[in-house]
Amino acid sequence: MACRRWPEPRTGWRRCLRGAGAAALVLLAACTPGQRGSDPPLGATGALAAHGLPELRNPLAHDPAAIAAGAKLYAQHACVTCHGRQLTGAMCPSLVNDAWVYGADDTTLFFLLRDGSVRLRARGVPRGGHDGQGGDMPGFGHLFDDAELWQLLSYIRSRHAAGD
Ligand code: HEC
Repeated sequence: MACRRWPEPRTGWRRCLRGAGAAALVLLAACTPGQRGSDPPLGATGALAAHGLPELRNPLAHDPAAIAAGAKLYAQHACVTCHGRQLTGAMCPSLVNDAWVYGADDTTLFFLLRDGSVRLRARGVPRGGHDGQGGDMPGFGHLFDDAELWQLLSYIRSRHAAGD
């Protein structure tokens, strides 16, 4: 599959960072104390255990209702601003190519989505690949519950599988 990474590498990132600033403001405004984005449970097993992350599997994978719900959430939130309506990464990384900054497994993507890229790296998960330079991904654990995060990932996977 052809990878469409950075149509305009330089300006693309500048726009991405501007988007990050705007989203940070929104997130700051929406931030509530005692949020869901707390640490994952202890007793982790599996490959990511070294980073203190329990290995997770999307319980809603391939579920048509979850994919539809995820599509709606994606379209209604800032994901669109940074990753583009078609998920092809207008300003930030594409979500439908084969390049993944931290990994393509459910665990990594769940915690990236929930906690953001800064916290993921703080846990020791390395930023890899050529997609991984530039801006950071905000966490969305304060906006979405676990089921909604899985719905978003079901949607992203469905689009990736469709070869968009
Ligand atoms: C402010 C811009 C911004 C917003 C808003 C945003 N992201 Fe991201 N996202 C990024 C950046 C930047 C990265 C890459 C992070 C890095 O390189 O450390 C990323 C990475 C990702 C990845 C991993 C992609 C890869 O190629 O490895 C997924 C999946 C993702 N975002 C999904 C989402 C979803 C779903 C939403 C909405 C709930 C969202 N993002 C909102 C900027 C954003």
